[in-house]
Amino acid sequence: MNQRKAIHDRVLNATSTEELMAAYGDWAEKYDGDLMGEMGYVAPMMTSELLLNTLPDNEACILDAGCGTGLVGELLYRKGYRNIDGLDYSPEMLAKAKEKSVYQRLDRQDLTQSLDIEDNVYDAVISVGTFTCGHVGPKAFDELIRITQPGGCICFTVREQAWGEDDYHQKLHAFEKNGRWALQELRTTDYLQQEGSRCKVCLYEVTA
Ligand SMILES: C[S@@+](CC[C@H](N)C(=O)[O-])C[C@H]1O[C@@H](n2cnc3c(N)ncnc32)[C@H](O)[C@@H]1O
Repeated sequence: MNQRKAIHDRVLNATSTEELMAAYGDWAEKYDGDLMGEMGYVAPMMTSELLLNTLPDNEACILDAGCGTGLVGELLYRKGYRNIDGLDYSPEMLAKAKEKSVYQRLDRQDLTQSLDIEDNVYDAVISVGTFTCGHVGPKAFDELIRITQPGGCICFTVREQAWGEDDYHQKLHAFEKNGRWALQELRTTDYLQQEGSRCKVCLYEVTA
């Protein structure tokens, strides 16, 4: 098994946050080269395009939740957006994101816990690659909705395998039934082209 596949398997099969963070700690240095090279990671581009189509104001305050090394922040920055914050739980991934100088602020926070962020702060939240097997589950949207202002949007990917296993459809719909957000768009697109995996890309508008 090559090194790239071995570390990706560690990330997808981690059974605790400690194991997951250890794997990202070991991958941080090579992450961008691996994913944007042969692995064909198209999800950041697809998701940021969908978000920016609905967010014409480039002064908008955007949170990149699970920002990793900053691939998404970099794409938003290139499109002229400057008010971008990033949040992740891996110190090594955050250190790589800092090197890109595209975020106003970078914080180490755990998306499975209450966030140390005030209500209604962001115009938009984007999260790519974070709602996946063994990472962060749908419960985290409770907090992401809370920190997004009404009328703002949340755009994210869910790896297809996790979508089924973690019953995302029903759990995301429950937030809609409770009047927290409204679905604007749901697509299925390529995720990692090399492995042939697909993901859902969702766009919700926060209502309360
Ligand atoms: C596949 S990477 C995606 C990074 C980046 N968004 C991208 O598209 O390249 C998943 C990221 O989620 C972060 N992550 C996993 N569990 C987390 C948690 N509980 N809280 C915050 N970040 C988490 C990892 O540290 C990692 O940087």
